[in-house]
Amino acid sequence: MIGDKKVLFSGMQATGSLTLGNYLGALKNWVSLSDEYECFYSVVDLHSITVRQDAAELRRRARNLLTLYIAAGLDPEKNCLYYQSHVSGHAELAWILNCFTYMGELNRMTQFKDKAAKHADNINAGLYTYPVLMAADILLYQADVVPVGKDQLQHLEITRDIAQRFNGIYGDVFTIPQAYVGKVGAKIMSLQDPFRKMSKSDENPNASIYLTDDPDTVIRKFKRAVTDSEANIAYREEQPGIRNLIDIYCACTGKTPEETVKEFEGKGYGDFKMAVGESVVDVLRPLQERFSQLQQDKAYIDGVIKNNAEKANYYATKTLRKVQKKVGFPERVR
Ligand code: TYM
Repeated sequence: MIGDKKVLFSGMQATGSLTLGNYLGALKNWVSLSDEYECFYSVVDLHSITVRQDAAELRRRARNLLTLYIAAGLDPEKNCLYYQSHVSGHAELAWILNCFTYMGELNRMTQFKDKAAKHADNINAGLYTYPVLMAADILLYQADVVPVGKDQLQHLEITRDIAQRFNGIYGDVFTIPQAYVGKVGAKIMSLQDPFRKMSKSDENPNASIYLTDDPDTVIRKFKRAVTDSEANIAYREEQPGIRNLIDIYCACTGKTPEETVKEFEGKGYGDFKMAVGESVVDVLRPLQERFSQLQQDKAYIDGVIKNNAEKANYYATKTLRKVQKKVGFPERVR
């Protein structure tokens, strides 16, 4: 708890261009939860270097991501928006937690297996211990709740296991966090292959809607979206392409799948795809406008970065000192 509020932590990587999946699965929920909780939203640049990055490009993307957090509606006066690399406690706690995590647990992580297969020439130790750094992110702020898309649930489970193990040895040091997965949009699928999640790293640009896509591009990608030959707009597993489009439409309009099916009864896929595309354009337009305005205001963004890093460091250090004492590191002489 901070004051009378429960704590929320979440983060996003500044690698690749953000997709509609990132927005509907995570960022949108962050905004809706931000009044209720004391929130920490990090740009997780330490995680990004588990895959080789161009330094200048990573810096540029990280700043854009932080700016996008604000453009999406997160008020930096109320929410702590900061770079993970500006708070050294993340790396320090991650080291300690590494010593309380078993290789057997890490071997089971599906994201590690996927990424290792994808980057076979660079299967580094950071990629392997990535979930431990994630646990450190969350536990450092004693977070009660962590809003994520479905793909991160396994990492939330290991975080809870590590925290419980540590508490079992040292007493109640860490708050045990709960995942928060939104009702709609928790797993947005690729527009080209509805069995795969929409991903920043997809090589086919038609598979993903990027948050920077202009209206024509958005509409064109939806027109090309892979569906089926049933010619029936129904919300069912046998029609994963249409189901994904219904999910996107619902997440953008606030309608339910039942309402959507009714709305498009008797209509063709062409009309429906157009409507989904337009609903996405309506969501992206204000976001993009606000983003370009904010990008111009260098001094404002710099101020946010400075103030919020101080705030994050304050809370992070509190937990870190407690943990260091528990494991037996000598106290600092003042
Ligand atoms: P990242 O950057 O891959 O994704 C950021 C958030 O977007 C969600 N997401 C999706 N949701 C729905 N449909 C999709 N197709 C889709 N693709 C991505 C993700 O679930 C995530 O919530 N390891 C994390 C970042 C991280 C983190 C943390 C998250 C680091 N430390 C601590 C929470 C707590 C990651 O790479 O997310």
